[in-house]
Formats: sequence, C-alpha cells, structure tokens
Amino acid sequence: MRAVICKAFGPLEDLVIEDRPAHEPGPGEVRVAIEAAGVNFPDTLMVEGKYQVKPALPFTPGAEIGGVVQAVGEGVTHLAVGMPVTGLVGVGAFAEEAVVRAGRLMERPAAMDAITAAGFSMTYGTSMHALRQRANLQPGETLLVLGASGGVGLAAVEIGKAMGATVIAAAGSAEKLEVARKAGADHVIDYTTESLRDRVKDLTGGKGVDVVYDPVGGDRLEEAVRVTAWEGRILIVGFASGTIPRIPANLLLLKGCSLVGVFFGTFASVDSAANKDNFRQLFAWFEEGRLKPLISRTLDLADTVEALRLLTGRTAIGKIVLTTGRTAS
Ligand SMILES: NC(=O)c1ccc[n+]([C@@H]2O[C@H](COP(=O)([O-])OP(=O)(O)OC[C@H]3O[C@@H](n4cnc5c(N)ncnc54)[C@H](OP(=O)(O)O)[C@@H]3O)[C@@H](O)[C@H]2O)c1
Repeated sequence: MRAVICKAFGPLEDLVIEDRPAHEPGPGEVRVAIEAAGVNFPDTLMVEGKYQVKPALPFTPGAEIGGVVQAVGEGVTHLAVGMPVTGLVGVGAFAEEAVVRAGRLMERPAAMDAITAAGFSMTYGTSMHALRQRANLQPGETLLVLGASGGVGLAAVEIGKAMGATVIAAAGSAEKLEVARKAGADHVIDYTTESLRDRVKDLTGGKGVDVVYDPVGGDRLEEAVRVTAWEGRILIVGFASGTIPRIPANLLLLKGCSLVGVFFGTFASVDSAANKDNFRQLFAWFEEGRLKPLISRTLDLADTVEALRLLTGRTAIGKIVLTTGRTAS
C-alpha cells in the first residue's frame, strides 16, 4: 500500500511516497482502508518539526480520515468490518491503509461520504469544543471569527449560527468573505482593507463582541481584544500567521474579559465522553442540513506536498482533501 513518509523534520518537499506492507490490527485496534484524508495546518507544522507533538521518525503524516473498516482486532466492540468511519488518528492518515486504535474512530452518518468525512472531524471537532466548552457561547451573543474561510474558521461560522449566535466573519479577501457569507455569516469584514475596530463598533452599536474565535494570531489578536465586550471570551485556537502574539494585560483588566486556550486533541483524550457528545450534536446538525462542510479541492495522495502548500500559501478555502483511489467496495 502507498504511504507518504516523513524521514526527517524539514521542508514539505522532502516528503516521499513509498510502498509499505499492511499490518494486522492488534488488541483494541482496527485496520482501515483510507478512501480520503483531510489536510490540516498542523500537518504542515508536524512535518517541519514545529508542532507541539513530534512523532518518532520516520512517520506518515495526516490526522484525519474517511474510510472503511477492513479488519478488527481483539476486544473491539463498537466497530465492525465494512463499517464506514471517520476519525482523528494523530498521524498515519496520508496512506492507503492504517492500523489505528479503535477508540479514535466513529461510525459516520449514512449521508456522509468518505471525502466529507475526511474533512469533518478536526475542524468541526475543534470549533465545537472551542465554542461549547471553552467559550460557553449563548444564543443571542455575538461571535467574531477571524480566518473565517479557512478550515476551522468556516466550521466556527456554521457552528456559531447553529448555536444561535450572530456571526461576524473576518477574512482576507472578497472571495473568502463570500464563502463565509454563504456559510451563514451575518456580517463580513475584510481585515486587509477595512478597520476591524471601526466595523465591529458599528455592527455592535459600540458594545463589542462577546466571543472572538482566533486561529490566526499575530497582530490580529490584539485588534480583536480591543473590540471585545465586557466579560467577553477570546479563544486562542492557532497561529496560522506564523506569529505567537503577546497581549498587554491591562486590556484584559479593563474589559473584564478572558483569553481562553483551546487544544482539541488533549480535550478529546481527557474528556472523551464530552467529545462524543459534541459529535452526536454535530452529526445531528449535519443530517439536518445545518452544517455543509466545504471541500474546495481534492487531490491524489501523490500530490500531498501541493495540498499542504495550499495551506501554507494562504490560498486554501474550506478544506483540502487527499484521495487514495480506495473505495468502500
Ligand atoms: N487549537 C486546536 O486544537 C487546533 C485544531 C486545529 C487547527 N488549529 C490551528 O488553527 C489554525 C488554522 O488551521 P486551519 O486548518 O483552519 O488552516 P487554514 O485552513 O489554512 O486557515 C487558516 C487561515 O488563517 C489565515 N492566515 C493568516 N495569515 C496566514 C498565513 N501567513 N498563512 C496561512 N494562513 C494565514 C488565512 O485566512 P485569511 O487569508 O482570511 O487571513 C487562512 O484561511 C492553525 O494554526 C492550526 O494549527 C488548532
């Protein structure tokens, strides 16, 4: 089976594709035929050796899969051979097959195809955890999403609407804002040509926003803190701009607001019951047509570097997904 291999941390261009033997699953594991794998910003950081988690070398990158269970190890009860699944596997998704811990996979809704499934778990799981457990977003509150046409940002726009918030989407081009508007954003701001501060003031009657969702970092974060309402919550989701910002502490004091960290991977492992409950709700919203994951491009596994470069080049909209040519039959 084909697998993308990272032999040393460094440039994405050093990734290679090799034929690797398939393994049998051990106790508590399953082997999955991977039909499609989602591409996420952390994959690029992991290959470059810049991520919080550094896998043992060599490794196959890729965290997110849509596929079908091929073989089941001893003691696995919630999955069976032939079951269509989705899930987050940490590493190993950029391949035609993977042996993974069964607990990392969920049966996916019947209406969700493998490509959609491959683009679902990371972005929607992260944004649901951020808005539900970390921000405690309430119906009627105002949510400002930065990087609103990217993977996690677009999911935050849709989930914010499903939770009953007024959503202001901010992004870096008219095309990106149109995508956010189609996903349900009530208002849009191009933060490369407009003043975030002035527009948010106008849109909220001077009050500011209750919750900020920030996967971008850099200078954007301080701008966002300055437009946060009294007792607002600012979600620190990521640093796609490449800069980890520092915030003057007096701003937090003056606004009685909170900076709140979000780390989906750790949440999913330390509170798997709450995570499962989040996905029950996400799958229900998907089946009701309230979540419409946008997969803007699919590329073959052989084009993994090109797919990752769409993210680092700031040109990706919604999700990019790799396909392997494997099918459920
Ligand atoms: N905390 C967690 O648990 C968690 C989970 C998943 C992802 N993340 C993090 O969230 C961030 C976004 O991930 P994603 O998969 O949604 O990425 P993505 O699809 O590439 O979206 C990132 C957005 O950031 C903006 N951006 C600003 N400066 C950029 C730059 N120099 N390069 C690339 N993008 C830039 C872009 O929007 P504009 O052009 O509109 O500004 C882009 O749409 C990453 O830092 C990732 O590591 C965190």
